[in-house]
Amino acid sequence: MRRNRMETIKIFDTTLRDGEQSPGASMNTEEKIQIAVQLERLGVDIIEAGFAAASPGDFDAIDKISQKVTNSTVCSLARAIDADVKAAGEAIAKAKMKRIHTFIATSSIHMEHKLKMKPDEVIKRAVRAVEYARTFVDDVEFSCEDAGRSDIGFMKEISDAVIEAGATTINLPDTVGFRLPFEIGAMVKEMSEYTKGRAIISVHNHNDLGLGVANSLEAVINGARQVECTINGLGERAGNAALEEIVMALKTRSDVFANYQTNINTKEIYPSSRLIANITGIEPQPNKAIVGKNAFAHESGIHQDGMLKNKETYEIIRPEDIGLDMDDTLVLGKHSGRAAFKDKLAKLGFTLDDEALNASFERFKIMADKKKDIYDDDLRALVTDEMTMA
Ligand code: KIV
Ligand code: ZN
Repeated sequence: MRRNRMETIKIFDTTLRDGEQSPGASMNTEEKIQIAVQLERLGVDIIEAGFAAASPGDFDAIDKISQKVTNSTVCSLARAIDADVKAAGEAIAKAKMKRIHTFIATSSIHMEHKLKMKPDEVIKRAVRAVEYARTFVDDVEFSCEDAGRSDIGFMKEISDAVIEAGATTINLPDTVGFRLPFEIGAMVKEMSEYTKGRAIISVHNHNDLGLGVANSLEAVINGARQVECTINGLGERAGNAALEEIVMALKTRSDVFANYQTNINTKEIYPSSRLIANITGIEPQPNKAIVGKNAFAHESGIHQDGMLKNKETYEIIRPEDIGLDMDDTLVLGKHSGRAAFKDKLAKLGFTLDDEALNASFERFKIMADKKKDIYDDDLRALVTDEMTMA
């Protein structure tokens, strides 16, 4: 039987660049170095460490990260102008593996109103930027900014030109998070067939309609071999596609994505998420997939009972697979049942006979009606009380 070849999907993390563009998420150099080291431990293929021309602080952080990180490619963003490309080239000069990521908008709305340039001039600028970037590095990525709203014929034309000039990755950002999965799939399919063997097709999906991750997965199915994303989905406006969700979807649904793998060590996902939340002060929403505080919490009695019998009843991912160390993911509240209550008490070291258990459980229910979350100390106090009353 012929086996299909395993293909690696490159994970390009832009937490330090697009993620930092999230309001209130600016980080100092020390913090950026800490994050870059964690991203390297996580196993990301490319770390977009910043936008060198944006500020001396950005340049300095990229330069320092370049000296520290050895197992991931370090990348700087640059607009398609000489000064930006030069700053990017110099900032990453000391990196063991380095990439310049240059971009220019390709949608009519951006070319006409923002750039005030004709399509021919846009192609010339893109080619010049890529050629100049190649004087610093071999690895050059070119992005058609606002690809989601660009004419595909024009993207083919500009891709031909920049590949000829030396670009090795063509990124197709859905800059304003406008597209639906089937549309991204069709665009990626057409572009990857068109550029086959000449460049890697990458996607960079924003989350304005909450579709960043779905669009990225559809892109993989249709030929994208690099996905750009951020930890906790941080990024401009509604953010970028979340790294942890893409990676865990690929892993959990290995039946669908049987021929694809990533280099991510998923056990470093939770530590990475916590580091970014602690540094930026931006907590993922409690019900955020994979890393939210409630992502592995089972509150209702029926769910808790199922979990106690077999975790697979309500859990599609094991917390330990993302590096979440929790012996017990059960949170007790007013919906909790007797089985979960008894199990929790056993974990706290209490073994009660039936009568004491029933009495404690009744008191627990009264407490839970008044108090949303019941902590271990509340339970200890309740049971100790029950025992002294008995
Ligand atoms: O969203 C976007 O288009 C970008 C580009 C600079 C890649 O962030
Ligand atoms: Zn972006």
